[in-house]
Amino acid sequence: FKTLDSADLDGKRVLLRVDLNVPTENGVVTDKTRIERVLPTIEDISKKGGKVILLAHFGRPKGERKEEDSLKPIVSAIEETAKRKIAFADDCVGDVAGAAIAQLKNGDILLLENTRFHKGEEKNDPAFAAQLAKLGDIYVNDAFSAAHRAHASTEGLAHLLPAYAGRTMQAELQALSEALEHPARPVMAIVGGAKISTKLDLLGNLIRKVDILVIGGGMANTFLAAQGKPVGKSLCEHDLLEKARAILADAQSSNCEIVLPIDATVAQKFEAHAPSHIVAIEHVGESDMILDVGPKSIAHIESLLAKAKTLVWNGPLGAFELPPFDEGTNAVAQTAARLTVESKLLSVAGGGDTVAALNQAHAAQEFSYLSTAGGAFLEWLEGKELPGVAALTK
Ligand code: 3PG
Repeated sequence: FKTLDSADLDGKRVLLRVDLNVPTENGVVTDKTRIERVLPTIEDISKKGGKVILLAHFGRPKGERKEEDSLKPIVSAIEETAKRKIAFADDCVGDVAGAAIAQLKNGDILLLENTRFHKGEEKNDPAFAAQLAKLGDIYVNDAFSAAHRAHASTEGLAHLLPAYAGRTMQAELQALSEALEHPARPVMAIVGGAKISTKLDLLGNLIRKVDILVIGGGMANTFLAAQGKPVGKSLCEHDLLEKARAILADAQSSNCEIVLPIDATVAQKFEAHAPSHIVAIEHVGESDMILDVGPKSIAHIESLLAKAKTLVWNGPLGAFELPPFDEGTNAVAQTAARLTVESKLLSVAGGGDTVAALNQAHAAQEFSYLSTAGGAFLEWLEGKELPGVAALTK
């Protein structure tokens, strides 16, 4: 793909697709990470004299104009982060957008209203993509976290205008490629989360790519049950035991070492601070719920991690939102952070709850790369082609 280094931006109208799908409470942005991540690209285009026209979606309004999904309240958060004025247009196509763009001077920044207010966006309707394309001279995609969607603003536009990857897209693809495509070995993956049903493809792909696969969280229980171990009242997908056995067999033939908990912190209730104790995995009682990995499992994972050169992490090892069942996730995250700082490890994490879990463990800052992508990160871990990325590399 082409990067901004090779783009002539001076005086050009640059349609910059960003991901502003940020969490909000009562219209106030509660986490600005995604905004911070796109600033380098905005500044780069602006400094080179381009007119920055931001395209983004917000929520899932399904082709209808819904006030609660307007991007307008996000403007002040971008202005605070960028420390400069941002214009806003009430529509992303047509006369309203055209008039706002006509007002722009070189280097100015304009945010257009939610692309998903139009049905053509999610349908990747060529007519809608053409309406967007009319507004710009150049297309830049900096929204890796929306690249798993083949929408007009993430995919269609790349075929209609000279298309470039933004700085965040570039950094993200580089980090991900270093972690799984051309990694320093041994490579360890840590996969946690509640269910294997949502991560079957992901596990299947990782087994072929990594040397060590640590499975934690609720999904580990299904594997333990598949090996005939007692799981008591723990979360477990009993209908997937055969699948779990097939994954274990695949791992063996692919020379991927699967690491499951050897001990666990168990409680009788799924509640914060529920009375708990530690048991060897063979001794989980009938009324026990496994809520975290135990100290021996933590020590085992840490000893393997100390030998790894690359780590890819998705999903917490236990019920991290309910202390003290965050201990396993916290301990392993802090060890990974320390090894990263000591330059022994390249660590990449992303998807769903993962960044929140690492933040809670005070380990996020030290990681080599934290992806802001949820679904896109998972699809990448599954080995799928992301339409937004593919369109840039065509
Ligand atoms: C995200 O928040 O993960 C992306 O912005 C994609 O949003 P979507 O799942 O609504 O397509």
